[in-house]
Amino acid sequence: MGQTTVLVGAQWGDEGKGKVIDILTEDAQYVVRYQGGHNAGHTVVIGDEKYVLHLIPSGILHKEKICVIGHGVVIDPKALIEEIEFLKGKGFEVDEVLKVSDKAHVIFPYHCKLDELREVKKKGRIGTTKKGIGPCYADKVARVGIRIADLFDKKYFRSRLNDNIAEKNAILKNLYGADGFSAGVIFDEYMKYGEYLKNYVCDSVNLINEAYCGGKTILFEGAQGTFLDVDYGTYPFVTSSNSTAGGACTGAGIGPSRIDRVLGVVKAYTTRVGEGPFPTEFGPTLMERIREKGGEFGATTGRARRCGWFDSVLVKNSVDINGIDSVIITKLDVLDELETISICTAYKHGGKTYRSIPGIPGFLESCEPVYEEHPGWLSDTSGITFYDRLPVNARKYISRIKELIGTDIMLVSVGKSRGQTMVCKQDKQGGAV
Ligand code: IMP
Repeated sequence: MGQTTVLVGAQWGDEGKGKVIDILTEDAQYVVRYQGGHNAGHTVVIGDEKYVLHLIPSGILHKEKICVIGHGVVIDPKALIEEIEFLKGKGFEVDEVLKVSDKAHVIFPYHCKLDELREVKKKGRIGTTKKGIGPCYADKVARVGIRIADLFDKKYFRSRLNDNIAEKNAILKNLYGADGFSAGVIFDEYMKYGEYLKNYVCDSVNLINEAYCGGKTILFEGAQGTFLDVDYGTYPFVTSSNSTAGGACTGAGIGPSRIDRVLGVVKAYTTRVGEGPFPTEFGPTLMERIREKGGEFGATTGRARRCGWFDSVLVKNSVDINGIDSVIITKLDVLDELETISICTAYKHGGKTYRSIPGIPGFLESCEPVYEEHPGWLSDTSGITFYDRLPVNARKYISRIKELIGTDIMLVSVGKSRGQTMVCKQDKQGGAV
C-alpha cells in the first residue's frame, strides 16, 4: 500500500505551507488539493523566481508529479485556465500531470457578485477574498450547484444554469438592487472553459485510491488553516470548507484508515487576514515591525495581515483536531530582532483560566491572554541550516512551544528558499525531508 501524508495549516492560514509542500513533494508521486479554491495562495521560491499558486498543487513545479484537484475544491475555470497558461508560459509540464475532479463544483460570476454584495451590505463583515468561495459551497450544500462534469452535458448544464440564474437574478435585483446575469452569455463562456479543461478531467477518487493501492506516495495539501475551518474555526469568521485534516477524507475521497501521518505547519508567531477574533494580536508598533519584516501581505489579495504572538492554546487545539503527528515551524527568523518574545499559554475569562476554547459566545473576543516572556536571541538566524547551531534562546523558544503543544517539531524554517530549512527531529516515517 502507499504512503500518505496530510499537511495542514495549524493557525489561520498563511503559515508558509507552500514552501513545506514543495520540500515534501520531493518524496511524493501524487500531490492533491482537497478543499478551498483560488482564495488560497501558496508561495514557492525556487532560485530567484517566486511562484504564487492558487488552485494547482505546488507539486506542478516538480517534474513528473501527478497533481490532482480533488472534488472538495471549488473551481473558477477562468482562474484555473489562467494558472495553467501561466505555468505553461514558464515552461512547466502541465498536460501530462494535471488531473481535475469531475465532481468538483464550479464557481460562476454570480457567486463572486453575491460574495461581494454580502460583504458590503451586511453588518459584521467577514473580510472574504470575494472569489465566490462561500456562495459556491452554499449552492453545493443546497444541492443546486453545478459540477465540472455537468459542463459536458449541454442540455443538463443549460437547465441547471437557467434555474440558478433565475434564482440569483431575483436575489441580486430584489435584495441588493444589482444587475442580474445573462444565462446565455455565461453558458457560452463556460462551454468554452469546459472544452479547454476537458482533457484534464477525471474520476479523481478512483485515481487516488488506485495510486494508494499501487504503493504510491501521496501528499494531500490543505489550504487556509485550522481556525478558518467551517466547523472548527472561529465561526462565522471562517472560510466555507473543511481546511482540517479530515477534509482530505471528504474532499479527496481517501478513507481515514488510509492516512498515515498528519503534519501541521505553524508560524513562529501568529497572523490572520480578514475579520474575526485574535486574542494575541499585537499593538500598532509591533504589528508594523513584524508585518514589514515578515512580508505579511496576502498572496491572493495583497491585504495586510494582522500579526500577534504565538498562541499555544490555539495550536494545541489544532494538534488535537487534526491529529497532528509533527509540526513544522516557519519564519523563526522574523523574530530575530526582538528583545523579548511572548507565548500565550492560557486565556483568562470571567475570573477563570482556560487552556482550551470553550463554546462561550464571544469568548475569544473578550478573553485575556496569559503570556510568558522569553528572552530573544538578537542575532540573524536566516543563514543557519543546522538546528544545533541556532542560538540557545531560539532553541529554548522552540522547546517551550513543543512542550506546550505536546507534539514533535520536525522542521524549522528561517527563510523563503528551500535551503533555509533545518531538520529538528526525524518524524515517524523516518523523516520524509
Ligand atoms: P473566503 O474563503 O474568501 O470566503 O474568506 C473567508 C475568510 O477566510 C476571510 O477571513 C479570508 O481572509 C480567509 N481566507 C481565505 N483564504 C485564505 C488563505 O489562503 N489564507 C488566509 N486567509 C484566508
